[in-house]
Amino acid sequence: FNSLATKTISALRPAVRSIHSTASQNAKVAVLGAAGGIGQPLSLLCKLSPEVDELSCYDIVGTPGVAADLSHIPSKSSTLGRLPSPVKWPMGPNDGLKEALEGSDVVVIPAGVPRKPGMTRDDLFNTNASIVQTLVEGCAKFCPDAMIAIISNPVNSTVPIAAEVLKKHGVYNPKKLAGVTTLDVCRANTFVGNHMGWDPKDVDVTVIGGHAGITILPLFSRVDGAKFTDDELEAITVRTQFGGDEVVAAKAGAGSATLSMAYAGYLFTENVLKALRGEEITQCAFVESNLTEAQYFASPVKFGKNGVEEILPLGELSAYEKQWFDKMMPELKKQIQKGVDFVKK
Ligand code: NAI
Repeated sequence: FNSLATKTISALRPAVRSIHSTASQNAKVAVLGAAGGIGQPLSLLCKLSPEVDELSCYDIVGTPGVAADLSHIPSKSSTLGRLPSPVKWPMGPNDGLKEALEGSDVVVIPAGVPRKPGMTRDDLFNTNASIVQTLVEGCAKFCPDAMIAIISNPVNSTVPIAAEVLKKHGVYNPKKLAGVTTLDVCRANTFVGNHMGWDPKDVDVTVIGGHAGITILPLFSRVDGAKFTDDELEAITVRTQFGGDEVVAAKAGAGSATLSMAYAGYLFTENVLKALRGEEITQCAFVESNLTEAQYFASPVKFGKNGVEEILPLGELSAYEKQWFDKMMPELKKQIQKGVDFVKK
């Protein structure tokens, strides 16, 4: 009887597709670039997340395999793997992307080439700008209400590119676009934890600015109880700014951070899903902002049911942080402008 009653009750419930439409919720996450170094472990972590009901894996190669593999993990989410469709009737060229994106609540984009030793993130611009442009055009058409989380570098330019593409399609909502800077926070937490002999899990460093070299500014002066000499503070600040280079050098040509980035991307995504479900979550993100002269800026952001609900005030910087801030601003504004110009021209 119980089972019959349950079936009857479920049959009476209205069908729910999207997390936005009801509190009983069905959350779909699409990972674009899902067969890559970040994309695969990120998809794995999303498949394990209790917040995810549908996981959609899209890439230009390999996603049927990634999705089939993940589908054998006994967790609640369904798994879909899609490639760009061959152009033949009745399929259109975008049908694979369309199926991957339709109904998505969060789209995470780690598609694009990673750095090799000696490269800056800006060196990736030429290749990754058009990849992000194409994928965000897909989001504009097939899931205009989704929260878009950009991992592809250079984030300081790819987020403005995404915004300009969404504007062109008339669907830009600044509450629903963010660059993922969570790895900078993860690195800062780890480095402070190691320095102080604390469990890094208990540390939460605020990291502001952008996501490239000196545009990354960790605010260690706000970490309660942390103590540094001037030299230690300089060393830990620079290590956070250039932590990515350590991984690029150690991988010696095989790419950049993938596993730590997958973890960071999953943390960000899970937090956004919790927020869309009604929890109030504060995390650092690179979003459109009027805190500074830069049009986009990473800082602590309150996420809620509508995405970005509030950008928290920056507060006072220490004299040391202020020096870095002044150095950062021209660089950050230049990289943002480069992204805007790419789409406008
Ligand atoms: P990867 O080369 O291992 O994977 C990239 C994937 O993107 C590949 O599977 C490729 O087929 C796919 N791809 C390329 N063009 C595509 C398109 N048009 N549509 C769909 N998929 C496409 O690179 P990895 O290591 O996963 O890095 C990806 C990006 O993430 C790079 O731009 C890297 O710089 C960035 N990154 C960002 C970090 C951050 O903190 N925001 C940290 C580390 C990396």
